[in-house]
Amino acid sequence: MRTDTPQTIYRKDYTPPGFLVETVELGFDLDPQRTIVASRLTMTRNPESKVRAIELHGENIVLVALRMNGKTLSKRDYRLDDKLLVIPNAPDEVTLEIETLTAPVKNTTLNGLYVSNGNFFTQCEAEGFRNISYFPDRPDVMAKYTVMLRADKATYPVLLSNGNLIEEGELGDGRHFAKWEDPFKKPSYLFALVAARLVCQEETFKLADGRSALLQVWVEEGNLDKTDYAMQSLKNSIRWDEERFGLELDLDRFMIVAVGDFNMGAMENKGLNIFNTKFVLANPRVATDIDYAGIEAVVGHEYFHNWTGNRITCRDWFQLSLKEGLTVFRDQEFSADMIGTDSGRAVTRIDQVRTLRQAQFPEDAGPMAHPVRPDSFVEINNFYTVTVYEKGAEVVRMYQTLLGRELFRKGMDLYFERHDGQAVTCDDFRAAMADAGGRDLTQFERWYSQAGTPVVRAEGRYDADAQTYELTLTQRCPATPGQENKLPFHIPVAVGLLGADGRDLHLNVDGLDAVTAVLELTEASRTFRFSGVKEAPTPSILRDFSAPVVLEYDYTDTELLHLFSHDSDPVNRWEAGQRLAMARLLKLTAAVAKGDTLELDTTFIEALRKILADESLDAAFREQALLLPSESMIADQMDVVNPQAIHQARQFVRRTIGGALRADLRAQYDANQTPGAYSPDALSAGRRGLKNLALAYLASTSSEDSIALAQAQFDHAGNMTDRVAALGALIHAGAASAQAALQAFYADFDNEALVIDKWFAMQACAPATDVAAVRALMRHAAFNLKNPNRARSLVFTFCVGNPSQFHAADGSGYAFWAEQVIALDALNPQVASRLARSMDRWRRYAPALQAPMKKALQKVAGVKKLSNDVREVVSKALA
Ligand code: PHE
Ligand code: ZN
Repeated sequence: MRTDTPQTIYRKDYTPPGFLVETVELGFDLDPQRTIVASRLTMTRNPESKVRAIELHGENIVLVALRMNGKTLSKRDYRLDDKLLVIPNAPDEVTLEIETLTAPVKNTTLNGLYVSNGNFFTQCEAEGFRNISYFPDRPDVMAKYTVMLRADKATYPVLLSNGNLIEEGELGDGRHFAKWEDPFKKPSYLFALVAARLVCQEETFKLADGRSALLQVWVEEGNLDKTDYAMQSLKNSIRWDEERFGLELDLDRFMIVAVGDFNMGAMENKGLNIFNTKFVLANPRVATDIDYAGIEAVVGHEYFHNWTGNRITCRDWFQLSLKEGLTVFRDQEFSADMIGTDSGRAVTRIDQVRTLRQAQFPEDAGPMAHPVRPDSFVEINNFYTVTVYEKGAEVVRMYQTLLGRELFRKGMDLYFERHDGQAVTCDDFRAAMADAGGRDLTQFERWYSQAGTPVVRAEGRYDADAQTYELTLTQRCPATPGQENKLPFHIPVAVGLLGADGRDLHLNVDGLDAVTAVLELTEASRTFRFSGVKEAPTPSILRDFSAPVVLEYDYTDTELLHLFSHDSDPVNRWEAGQRLAMARLLKLTAAVAKGDTLELDTTFIEALRKILADESLDAAFREQALLLPSESMIADQMDVVNPQAIHQARQFVRRTIGGALRADLRAQYDANQTPGAYSPDALSAGRRGLKNLALAYLASTSSEDSIALAQAQFDHAGNMTDRVAALGALIHAGAASAQAALQAFYADFDNEALVIDKWFAMQACAPATDVAAVRALMRHAAFNLKNPNRARSLVFTFCVGNPSQFHAADGSGYAFWAEQVIALDALNPQVASRLARSMDRWRRYAPALQAPMKKALQKVAGVKKLSNDVREVVSKALA
């Protein structure tokens, strides 16, 4: 931490490292209070660099000894400050021996080497290795690692690191050792060790080429009954990457380790993935369908990094999306393929669209807006964002949309052929796609360099005499910090035309004959002409959400209802319903603010009724179609946000639907029971999803029978999905029995940390929970701000997921936010900075709220000993 102005780092300043590292030998004497790390580096001068000196990063560690080519260096031979160790005069070939000291038990940042529940773990991405040893801690320095771990055997019976175990044994004194060797070159951010009391589920798995690999999932002893799904997901991931991309596991052993204290979801360390317990542990008793889906996606994600991230890594951290955008795209495709049906695939796509709108579009429109490949940052940890990850994945998806699946695969092959073992840039990836696809993708680069969500305006014109339909697409992109004017993007716009009977018309445009055309908009505006159009069509634009843009088209209600009933593209079918709902929610929000009477038209309700009962549609799709846009998505559509009015309007719509469709909802509730043993498969999960949405709608009326229904489901639930859904329904209905249910739930699961997280989260987002209630929950014995999952479950859920209470008129929510950001920052800047982001959009609220929001931001900004992480976020918010 520093008190002076933090330094901004620019992409344009990239220079190759002065020295490359060939081999790294690390020796750890693990002790929670005093861990000694001995490192031996063989280094050679990099002919491609003008930097003369050896530059090693190091923070929060004590340098004990330093030798170069066998000779101890004296203080005159090097410069050392709190960040850097510089050796100005070094020969071209050197062996450095470095000894450092750390105190893992005091490390609450969960970055570098730390202790969680008595066990040792490391987290090195992005720049954590420098908290372990002095090293050129940058991703373009790739080396081969050998690691010797020594620790007390009784306390830490399991000693793990990257690669293969080559030796283990006793040391006397009750200590033991294990030696690991990673055969692949890697950057320091992929280093990992674990020294712990853990047990594992393991299995030998046959790879496509006939080799076999040992797969292990390591957890604390009491959790061995929750590892099956992670193991299954790992095996599915390995198969999928073989089949879809021809990529094989390159190690004899692949380990997943679960840890209860973790800042993020999981980490792709070579051969030793370290996971937040949330994305490993599951059985029907403790995990919901959403948890299961999360485990599959994250296990896949980390496994897929082995090729996209590890074998080919990033030249510098500005290229982060090179590995993250691509790997998110891969995990999205994996999850979709695991469901296997077109309609299942569409539901996963709808989920992705929702995430983008819920989180990425607001980021792109706020003070922290940045391109997929940022030009500068203060703290790299602040750039593990929805823009880099999810918008980055959309950018990769657009290559596939533009090139087609086959050429996209060729582009992937070419990328691996050219760059295996290298640290490269987003331009290298784009070049592989352009070369394999035989396309000029120069303009496509703007998706990497321009921030902001493009808006595509569409206007249609049907000429009955000529039987032509003209679609004019016009694009613009709002200004973002540091980027006033934008140039046109290369946007794939997938379009279909519906006839009056709801069926797709055959399209004739640019020589194509199909029902969906991918139009390529490259200019500011262009008109596309479809010929042979026999009737005035209803356009279905941006099918499958073919680009991460906002689509403007002045749809009439009639057109939207037509699309909602008939569009063959499920994403646009869903989208039509969302547009119908959003228009009503916005009108009702205005009515609430004015004190007008509220009314919901029957046309909309009848459209929902029809979808709800349409047995030709998957339950999962019907659930999506009936889900209303969230309060924050409504807020995003308003010039001046009024959180209480939004909440009331949305509650009114829920209640009205719940009442009007009472019988239909009840019928679906009964029809979508999933008797028998729990299975997390998409079909069963979809049925539970629809059933529980029906329950939520019914309970939103607070009617006696709906509360009885929720109570009965709570009492007899055979799995966590049904149990939390019932509990949530009771809480949101304000049922008298909710408190007793909460208590029973706590008593049943008090030794299941991940379930207690749900217990806190459900209360944090309940409409009746105000700041005082959150403070009371923070005094609960089970609350612990140091544990990120717990902090997120209560504090974050309240600040982000309970807008009508967080934005209380007296500003108490904002004062609470400031307090928690400051308290967290002293423990864990990365987590604090995420919470700090929840005030990003403060300028969009009514002046009466803006003033206390600004005050809260200023209070945080005024703290002297603030981390760079939080400093960057609050100063950009205030700028
Ligand atoms: N690289 C990790 C992932 O995407 C995320 C991560 C970043 C984890 C930084 C820890 C720290 O899978
Ligand atoms: Zn990742």
